[in-house]
Amino acid sequence: MAASASCISLVVLVALATAASGQLSPTFYDTSCPRALATIKSGVMAAVSSDPRMGASLLRLHFHDCFVQGCDASVLLSGMEQNAIPNAGSLRGFGVIDSIKTQIEAICNQTVSCADILTVAARDSVVALGGPSWTVPLGRRDSIDANEAEANSDLPGFNSSRSELEAAFLRKGGLNTVDMVALSGAHTIGQAQCSTFRARIYGGDTNINAAYAASLRANCPQTVGSGDGSLANLDTTTPNAFDNAYYTNLMSQRGLLHSDQVLFNNDTTDNTVRNFASNPAAFSSAFTTAMIKMGNIAPKTGTQGQIRLSCSRVNS
Ligand code: HEM
Repeated sequence: MAASASCISLVVLVALATAASGQLSPTFYDTSCPRALATIKSGVMAAVSSDPRMGASLLRLHFHDCFVQGCDASVLLSGMEQNAIPNAGSLRGFGVIDSIKTQIEAICNQTVSCADILTVAARDSVVALGGPSWTVPLGRRDSIDANEAEANSDLPGFNSSRSELEAAFLRKGGLNTVDMVALSGAHTIGQAQCSTFRARIYGGDTNINAAYAASLRANCPQTVGSGDGSLANLDTTTPNAFDNAYYTNLMSQRGLLHSDQVLFNNDTTDNTVRNFASNPAAFSSAFTTAMIKMGNIAPKTGTQGQIRLSCSRVNS
């Protein structure tokens, strides 16, 4: 009885997973463009070796793509979503994706989508900075539009509470609380501007280490408008390594953003943070699982959308 019930739930689970990822498959380009993955990897490695922050920027670009209309490269279209509040003056890496796309077009004309290039580039960025690897399902197609309003409403903000973060992730492909905590671990690399953590370091938050706040104030003036763009590392201990230090930082109240520290604040996610802080393998496993789930949000497949010739504009 129990065995047949669990058998049925397994079938349902597999069916749900298949429906969620459409017809995506890791071997999608094996015959149509066998050199696609190697070309993306070498483009990302070159970009990250000349600018380590680029790994962080490409990972974030993929997240901001997937949370708006699904992973369809809508964020890469000039204007539109790029003007949304969480994106303007902040997203980086468009040139790297454009140049990888140019190289891929030269070997396989109108075959590999920008959405897939960005998804693979996010994985390769994590690997380039010492993080875990995973197999990326492929076959996404590119949107013919973008949605600035959805970028404003659906991308989580740095002032979010824990429950707001949970709700924002659950809306997107059913990313659960553990997925949300694991994906936030992406803040183990990269940087944020003073305007995103100013309130936190000038008394807005009490759950911040005093010495850490003081060191951040040195480079982030209190007056709004001055030094807004000054950068601080999201991971104060190992900023260019994709490791689990983000979680140990949270445990000593050294999360940079309000939305980071809410994950460890005498609340329901504390135990997940403790687990990821003490067990790097548990973090790697949860992160890769959640990245695959995020990459499978509402893909366009089959005859939907198009394969763009240039990632920054729709085909004419
Ligand atoms: C949990 C909700 C999240 C919030 C509120 C949030 C917010 C932010 C903010 C405000 C910044 C700094 C932007 C700037 O100052 O220009 C940032 C940077 C970054 N975010 Fe998030 N983020 C979240 C989740 C994620 C996720 C899920 C990922 C990827 C899986 C991610 C990857 C990154 C990376 C890598 C950077 C650094 C980018 C760079 O240096 O160019 N974030 N995030």
